[in-house]
Amino acid sequence: MWAIAPREVHVWLTTLSISAARLASLTTSLSEDERDRAQRLRRHAERNRFMAARGVLRRVLASYLDAAPADVRFAYGPMGQPTLADAGSSPDIRFSLSHSRDLLMLGFAAGRPVGVDVEPVRPLAHREAIERRVFTPRERRSLAGVPDERRLRAFFNGWTRKEAFAKATGHGMWATMGRVEVSLDPEDPAAFLSVDHSAAAAARWTLFHLEPASGFLAAVASEGSDLTLSVGELEPDGLEELTRRPAAPEAGK
Ligand SMILES: CC(C)(COP(=O)(O)OP(=O)(O)OC[C@H]1O[C@@H](n2cnc3c(N)ncnc32)[C@H](O)[C@@H]1OP(=O)(O)O)[C@@H](O)C(=O)NCCC(=O)NCCS
Repeated sequence: MWAIAPREVHVWLTTLSISAARLASLTTSLSEDERDRAQRLRRHAERNRFMAARGVLRRVLASYLDAAPADVRFAYGPMGQPTLADAGSSPDIRFSLSHSRDLLMLGFAAGRPVGVDVEPVRPLAHREAIERRVFTPRERRSLAGVPDERRLRAFFNGWTRKEAFAKATGHGMWATMGRVEVSLDPEDPAAFLSVDHSAAAAARWTLFHLEPASGFLAAVASEGSDLTLSVGELEPDGLEELTRRPAAPEAGK
């Protein structure tokens, strides 16, 4: 069984590019509604990535809960946030999932909300229009002051940080964008600047910056202060054994 200390946040990274046999084995733990949802995804690659991600999530949760992966039960919030159905049980594990292309990022904490988001840094069509929707006037002024060579990274810093907060609170991306302000310039430390216009409320949250793979930026948001992050990689070939051969995440980045 794995454990998370009260002020720890764990992140696990793995690839969703796995063999058909590995996928078949992960899929055995999925619930009926997860299989139905997979069947509704039209694109083959998307369907496989969804099933693989849920299979890995179940295995890691099972390791924290000392349960079988198929026995993990999810409930869903009004905006689609998955949580453990047996909320309030001990240990009170909270989690968040983000995938981008073949990269899966999972975040876990005990007794405190956690949200993760990973994005590839890529040029975007209509970036200015998106910036107007995503960033507050203060953030747009800050973005305008970032030199061109750091601008795209600043945009994705902002995007992932706000989305990590949205994931932690479960409210949904667009409802959250105007509620939270974050640091953007890659030269500045990752930080929440305001939550609901309050710097004091922002200080009750912690934000971590990660570069989980070349060309990707990620953020981890969790409620509380003096938190430490540890990041580990999961080998797809070792997933079968997760619940039997637990390993602690490596030291944080
Ligand atoms: C889900 C959402 C947070 C962003 O997801 P994304 O960047 O496209 O994809 P990611 O891989 O980073 O995250 C998706 C995962 O977040 C989780 N998730 C979904 N809704 C969530 C919510 N409201 N809060 C927290 N986590 C959520 C799920 O685990 C999902 O993966 P799964 O469906 O495979 O289990 C975003 O679409 C959202 O805010 N949805 C809520 C409803 C909403 O606002 N809809 C309008 C979207 S345009």
